[in-house]
Amino acid sequence: MDFSPFPFFFLFLFLLQNPIFASNLHKIKLLRSEPELLAQPTSPDEIPPTRYFEVTKPIQLPKTKPCSYHILQHDFGFTYGKPPVLANYTPPSHCPSSKFSKIVLEWTATCKGRQFDRIFGVWLGGVELLRSCTAEPRATGIVWTVQKDITRYYTLLMKDQTLAVYLGNLVDKTYTGVYNVDIFIHFYPVVNDDLAYGYGGAPADLILPISRNLPLNDGLWFEIQNSNDTEVKQFKIPQNAYRAVLEVYVSFHENDEFWYTNPPNDYLAANNITDTPGNGPFREVVVTLDGKVVGAVWPFTVIYTGGVNPLLWRPITGIGSFDLPSYDIEVTPFLGRILDGDTHSFGFRVTNALNVWYIDANLHLWLDLKSGRTEGEVLNYIEKPLVESLVSDFVGLNGNFWTSARRSVWSTGWVRSSLGNITTSFIQDFSYNNSMVMGNDGSLQTVNQIIHFNDSVHAMQPSSYVHFISETYRRFLLKLYTDQLDQGNDTYLSVANVTLGFDVRKFKSAAFGFASSFLKNLQNAEGSIIVKNNLVVSGSGSTQEDYNSKSNDFCYFRKVSSSNYTILHDKEGNPCKKRSRTPLGFGFGKKFPFLLF
Ligand SMILES: *[C@@H]1O[C@H](CO)[C@@H](O)[C@H](O)[C@H]1NC(C)=O
Ligand SMILES: *[C@@H]1O[C@H](CO)[C@@H](O)[C@H](O)[C@H]1NC(C)=O
Ligand SMILES: *[C@@H]1O[C@H](CO)[C@@H](O)[C@H](O)[C@H]1NC(C)=O
Ligand SMILES: *[C@@H]1O[C@H](CO)[C@@H](O)[C@H](O)[C@H]1NC(C)=O
Ligand SMILES: *[C@@H]1O[C@H](CO)[C@@H](O)[C@H](O)[C@H]1NC(C)=O
Ligand SMILES: *[C@@H]1O[C@H](CO)[C@@H](O)[C@H](O)[C@H]1NC(C)=O
Ligand SMILES: *[C@@H]1O[C@H](CO)[C@@H](O)[C@H](O)[C@H]1NC(C)=O
Ligand SMILES: *[C@@H]1O[C@H](CO)[C@@H](O)[C@H](O)[C@H]1NC(C)=O
Repeated sequence: MDFSPFPFFFLFLFLLQNPIFASNLHKIKLLRSEPELLAQPTSPDEIPPTRYFEVTKPIQLPKTKPCSYHILQHDFGFTYGKPPVLANYTPPSHCPSSKFSKIVLEWTATCKGRQFDRIFGVWLGGVELLRSCTAEPRATGIVWTVQKDITRYYTLLMKDQTLAVYLGNLVDKTYTGVYNVDIFIHFYPVVNDDLAYGYGGAPADLILPISRNLPLNDGLWFEIQNSNDTEVKQFKIPQNAYRAVLEVYVSFHENDEFWYTNPPNDYLAANNITDTPGNGPFREVVVTLDGKVVGAVWPFTVIYTGGVNPLLWRPITGIGSFDLPSYDIEVTPFLGRILDGDTHSFGFRVTNALNVWYIDANLHLWLDLKSGRTEGEVLNYIEKPLVESLVSDFVGLNGNFWTSARRSVWSTGWVRSSLGNITTSFIQDFSYNNSMVMGNDGSLQTVNQIIHFNDSVHAMQPSSYVHFISETYRRFLLKLYTDQLDQGNDTYLSVANVTLGFDVRKFKSAAFGFASSFLKNLQNAEGSIIVKNNLVVSGSGSTQEDYNSKSNDFCYFRKVSSSNYTILHDKEGNPCKKRSRTPLGFGFGKKFPFLLF
């Protein structure tokens, strides 16, 4: 056999020179014919471009007319390994108001021809605003738009900055797609001053980049290459901070693009397989402050637009692929250790990592504008070490693998500022289960994985009865079935079914209010490809998605399905009865900043 007897995924997020590793050559070869698989009309110019999209709720906008700025236009052709594309950013100057209740980043791109899915990032002053993956084009062209609420970066956006965009693309005779990109920022002026900072609470007073410095060739993210690799960034904070949140961006590529399908090393060794990534299916991102663990991220399994079977993600893209989630770690309990005016360092590592993870972060800081100094102390800190277990019963290439893991991180500390002496606790609880089956001598693989990622922040000031609680419960689901069926005559059928989804529940309570929200997002996709002599000769893909979001002030659902580029059903609406709007605000305003969650 000229390739490993193993279920595989067709399109790697393509980062290195084509082709990446000799052993994956067959996967890439498969794709050479793939974009033409679904017969297209003879004169592509007459066909309008296909619009790809990620299902998400619309951003709630105020009724004011936005001031919009076109901050970048660029065609990304030969950009791989080059410096990011830069632009000078200046805050809005000809807007009737200088206060905004909503700020929205808009990315719009077109592409035509054939191209891989490419990871990209958008940074302002080194602070990452968007991590995303391009859509894969077709001969008749595609267009897609990503809109992201970037109001939380308010203070950053009110100063002159350098905008940096890295999208590493390569163009040749086969991979002809150039990504034509436009970036806009829309500023929505406030309706009235009470809502000056939006419905969610006050954005940070200062945001420090925890990323690599310009100038460089590549993205500003750190690259984690193996499980021993810790990437560190030094920083210094003002001595009057009273709250700190580290927002972490994560994406996984090459040998770890499908980390949740990686078999354990003993299975690979027993079968003499050397060209398939291993280290088992468990990964976690660990964040340290001056070498001590302050939190972790057990990431959602984003499948990029070329992943598993690219036809599954056209035009409905995989959950999170156009706007990768970032994860917040409350570091307020540790503030007392870093208020000394000295240099400190955040570190990132990934348990069991294989090459390569792209990680960076933004440190959101709230400053006490009434005093030059705050003080604090860590009161309690418990890091229950990771407990990981693996059970397997494989014989030859067939078998079952159960991997599970748990971790908790618990910290409490006080910070005294002009707001009072507030004690903050941050608790993270994680659990992970992955059950994997290998069958048909390695050509069949199923994976069934659940991650629980819960955290809570409690902030208390006994003297003034301030008591704030925010709890978040996340569940990430992934079910994957892939099989290759030999059809004889050098032909085989490759089938894949994917269930991908998450649900998140949030509760917030403060002295004068209570709010909750719920979001469930689930995709079911199935597709198949017929491969003859290592070339795809035909294929199909269908996807259904169910999105359901409820909160005190806004509800939204969408049910949509597609097959072979065509939308079959699409329904959206507001499932809640009309009721009076109760903005999440509790009346604290800027004074008590914990309303941001
Ligand atoms: C990590 O470090 C350990 C101890 O030095 C070493 O045994 C192991 O081979 C290293 N792993 C990698 C992937 O470099
Ligand atoms: C793996 O390789 C070793 C040494 O070449 C050989 O003895 C063994 O039979 C091989 N095992 C399998 C399952 O092919
Ligand atoms: C702040 O509150 C904590 C917990 O009640 C207490 O241990 C600490 O001494 C207080 N700090 C100051 C400066 O009052
Ligand atoms: C996370 O919260 C959910 C809902 O309360 C609970 O069922 C689950 O056991 C929690 N998981 C962990 C690891 O704490
Ligand atoms: C993982 O599996 C164990 C054993 O089957 C079970 O007790 C636990 O609740 C599971 N956890 C999750 C998050 O599904
Ligand atoms: C196998 O492929 C050859 C060449 O494409 C064709 O002539 C032959 O009819 C095929 N046989 C079967 C059983 O499909
Ligand atoms: C995969 O999806 C197809 C189409 O919905 C279904 O017929 C088949 O039973 C599924 N297979 C598995 C193993 O889930
Ligand atoms: C998609 O393509 C497959 C294979 O050509 C076909 O069986 C299926 O009916 C198509 N779906 C639609 C909705 O046309």
